[in-house]
Amino acid sequence: MVTFKDFKGANNNLNAITDLFPPKKQFLHRDKQVQDIILNLSPIMSNQRAPNFFTFGATGTGKTAILKSQLEDLEKICGEEKISFAWVYVNCAEAASSADCLLKICKQISQAPETIKVGHQWSYATSLFETLLAKKNLVILLDEIDKLIETEGDRLLYYLTRIKDRLQDRNVCVITVSNNINVPSMLSPGTESSFGKLRVEFFNYDALQLKDIILQRVKQASLQVDEEAVALIAGYGAQLHGNARQTLELLKNAYLATVKGAKKITAEVVKETYDRMEHDLFTESVARLPAHQKILLLGIFAKTFKKEEVNTAKVYETYADLCRQLKKSPVSVRRVQQIIKEFRDAGILESATNNRNEKNITIQAPPETFKKVYESLTSTYQEVKLP
Ligand SMILES: Nc1ncnc2c1ncn2[C@@H]1O[C@H](COP(=O)(O)OP(=O)(O)OP(=O)(O)O)[C@@H](O)[C@H]1O
Ligand SMILES: [Mg+2]
Repeated sequence: MVTFKDFKGANNNLNAITDLFPPKKQFLHRDKQVQDIILNLSPIMSNQRAPNFFTFGATGTGKTAILKSQLEDLEKICGEEKISFAWVYVNCAEAASSADCLLKICKQISQAPETIKVGHQWSYATSLFETLLAKKNLVILLDEIDKLIETEGDRLLYYLTRIKDRLQDRNVCVITVSNNINVPSMLSPGTESSFGKLRVEFFNYDALQLKDIILQRVKQASLQVDEEAVALIAGYGAQLHGNARQTLELLKNAYLATVKGAKKITAEVVKETYDRMEHDLFTESVARLPAHQKILLLGIFAKTFKKEEVNTAKVYETYADLCRQLKKSPVSVRRVQQIIKEFRDAGILESATNNRNEKNITIQAPPETFKKVYESLTSTYQEVKLP
């Protein structure tokens, strides 16, 4: 743990590591995406409606930061050019419903946000939106749109993309953001076609690109980092599916590990920090699992602990036996296969085909983490006799 005193005399600009925007808003290796966004939004500069478009990309690939940064720039230049322009941002994962999402949009465009009450119906939200919608160019940035579509369908998008038919002098442009590339196919054909073919895709960063992103922040924050340590952080970042957020998190934690003493980030510090972060991530994700997932995992841990082979075909028997002991009815074989796939996606397990054409499962945790998680699972289910 660090205390305020540890930062005495540390002349580092740590905001450069933790900020959403990189120094001077320079997003490295994203020229194509930035160009596409600017091109899509350029009609606003001549007071015309900009087209709706989708953006996609894995987590930590710069979608939110880059879109917000471009919209801020556009707002500034529209102000200088006396072009009426406003933009709003809503994270749909934080909205309870389409109506809630629309009310959040209203709150941002309204001059008197306190008059808007939450919990209203859709019809209230739409009429409020239409009275508040000024003759302005408005861009609505809908982050994590897939979360809303999964629960409520495309009601909000359908409505927003149709508004131009009724209020012809209002220019509304909708930009959606998601990790899920299948968003267009989740929409009704009418809504999908209102988006046309415009898509901006944010690809995962590779180790070399991450290295540049790290060096940019290291320089701005005046950190002392070994060359080898930079390469190691970038390599870990690439393993984390090119996630710039987690890569910067690793840099920040490695810095925190040196602030008390050595002051210099070495490869060794990075490795220790990474192992600790992996450990925390693994234990936290297991702790948050629902009961059946935990029981399945307990069986896999117990077999692995005994150095017995675990394969996807036999794992069900072990799981079902534990369920019987716990007087719970087991979920279906299919569901268990699906859970194993989810574990794989979450980096908890890995599976590989053996020479009998069966899939062997291995747990992806360093020995210390394995021990701690196994202890916690066995203490949760003390009453069972392990396989
Ligand atoms: N090309 C880049 N250059 C510099 N910093 C970057 C770059 N790409 C991402 N970052 C930084 O990585 C962090 C994560 O970016 P951001 O929040 O935009 O990711 P995201 O794609 O929206 O992820 P999520 O899907 O999880 O919301 C931010 O601090 C951002 O500034
Ligand atoms: Mg984001």
